[in-house]
Amino acid sequence: MAKKDVTNVELKDKVVLVRADFNVPMKDGEITNDNRIVQALPTLKYIIEQGGKVVVFSHLGKVKEESDKEKLSLAPVAKRLSEKLGQDVQFIPETRGEKLESAIKALNSGDVLMFENTRFEDVDGKKESKNDSELGRYWASLGDIFVNDAFGTAHREHASNVGISTHLETVAGFLMEKEIKFIGGVVENPNKPVVAILGGAKVSDKIGVIENLLNIADKVLIGGGMAYTFLKAQGKEIGLSLLEADKIDFAKDLLERASDQIVLPVDAKVAKEFSNEAQITTVSIDDIPEDQEAMDIGPETVALFKEQLKGAHTVVWNGPMGVFEFSNFAQGTIGVCEAIAELQDATTIIGGGDSAAAAMQLGFEDDFTHISTGGGASLEYLEGKELPGIKAIANQ
Ligand code: 3PG
Repeated sequence: MAKKDVTNVELKDKVVLVRADFNVPMKDGEITNDNRIVQALPTLKYIIEQGGKVVVFSHLGKVKEESDKEKLSLAPVAKRLSEKLGQDVQFIPETRGEKLESAIKALNSGDVLMFENTRFEDVDGKKESKNDSELGRYWASLGDIFVNDAFGTAHREHASNVGISTHLETVAGFLMEKEIKFIGGVVENPNKPVVAILGGAKVSDKIGVIENLLNIADKVLIGGGMAYTFLKAQGKEIGLSLLEADKIDFAKDLLERASDQIVLPVDAKVAKEFSNEAQITTVSIDDIPEDQEAMDIGPETVALFKEQLKGAHTVVWNGPMGVFEFSNFAQGTIGVCEAIAELQDATTIIGGGDSAAAAMQLGFEDDFTHISTGGGASLEYLEGKELPGIKAIANQ
């Protein structure tokens, strides 16, 4: 069902609470990838243009004890947001109290205020992460309307996304809406034929996704480390390649049920050491040496996957094809990126996580219809689950 969005409500002179997902990667206090901040800009700019008073907040990392707070302040995010918006963002290093309340009261139309990491409330009894009802009610009391733009957090039922919605009318921001349209669209109403490409290290992380996508997709192409458990299930020797022995039966069962849908690698790049400098050999999938590990799909697999993608109207990709962090083992992931990017008549979607990072790192960010900002959230959405953060948004 379509959700109400930020254009459906009056914002002028209103205090607009905005839940964003600014859980960005940081190293030594520096933001290493600000994509989630960039993706939140359209909603924030729209509210500013409409004359709303923005109060934006997010979680960052996991805050278990007092000492975690030092490294997990949102202050650097407020600074980066201010640079990106080209206007002042007032940062209040509190999650509640007099200082925050009077700063909100003093806001003018078009001003932006950010308050501190919502998970600072977790130190004292996990109030945020356990969706403490008093905390949700308190945050709701600070504003007139709630805009939930935090798709990356939509699989969590926390006070700052779901709790607030119990007390205040909740609408989607533009990013949330886009994620629902594209990731939700794959699950609910995809334009057929659908091809899914799954990769990444572990079968166990993707069990729900594989099962659900087999109900939706015409073809499911499997690469990355997880492919070798499937190949082992077919009776192939996989050398030292990644294997989840306790998932062989699951893989066997799927291969029996969906042999005409599942497509596995036909060749691989193998090496003795897990290193970018390792000596690489490209071998047929039937000839993986017993003392070597497959670290990328080979060129024949890229060609096979390319062939399978022809004529697709919807493509969804989750998980890299090999150890793409090592440049010498990135060719499979690059090849798949290129093959998807070349498709003319397809809606092409990356379901977040490592494959989104890979596509952006490899310079393909403008070549897909949608690259999700969600990691766990997009996986759970692709599994067909109802996400609590989305459920809490008002229907049209
Ligand atoms: C994410 O990065 O997947 C989201 O921000 C959720 O973070 P969490 O796994 O710490 O709840």
